[in-house]
Amino acid sequence: MGFLDKLFGNTSKEDTTMEKLNIGIILGSTREGRVSPQVGEWVKGIADKRGDANYEIVDIADYQLPFLGTTDGTEPGIAAWNQKLANLDGFVFIVQEYNHSITGALKNALDFAREVWNNKAAGIVSYGSTGGARAAEHLRGIMGELMIADVRVHPTLSLFTDFENGTVFKPQELHLNNVNAMFDQVIAWSGALKTLR
Ligand SMILES: Cc1cc2nc3c(=O)[nH]c(=O)nc-3n(C[C@H](O)[C@H](O)[C@H](O)COP(=O)(O)O)c2cc1C
Repeated sequence: MGFLDKLFGNTSKEDTTMEKLNIGIILGSTREGRVSPQVGEWVKGIADKRGDANYEIVDIADYQLPFLGTTDGTEPGIAAWNQKLANLDGFVFIVQEYNHSITGALKNALDFAREVWNNKAAGIVSYGSTGGARAAEHLRGIMGELMIADVRVHPTLSLFTDFENGTVFKPQELHLNNVNAMFDQVIAWSGALKTLR
């Protein structure tokens, strides 16, 4: 926006687009054969229909993060991961349950950044035999330490009723309202918290 536009309060359509929040849909699993990309694409499809923010899939696997503390920390993926998070205003974590918690890959990725997580909002979409609820609750504890405000609405997907053979994602209709309600809260809080940063 130019100086005169600011002075007279003129906002063009282009400016409004530029001011949209950036929300990352973070895939929490990295294993070969994982189902998280299917879930992430479904969530992004719902998000894009809303058109109220810039939504993107953020795949931890793309950053090839080493295991924290095992290298000198100069791998380009570490800086790229931090840069990506710095550019985001909020997150939706796609969380899968591994041994009643989040994946090691997601914990490692969470540990690899600090300030760039702070004062942002996040929602969780989880899956597992009990909807990934136990993993999601662990993530909420971690988010407290990282100063990420986790919203209440939490869609939980069942490996038994939302997947065929536990591998082909076929979500039940009923989850759609929940995902949108979660986004309502993520967008509201992401916008509010942006004013703190
Ligand atoms: C190491 C491991 C541990 C798991 N532990 C649990 C568990 O405790 N509870 C559960 O509901 N599902 C568990 N599962 C099943 C996963 O939730 C399921 O395989 C899911 O598809 C994993 O997500 P992903 O395909 O994106 O990797 C486990 C899977 C793996 C690979």
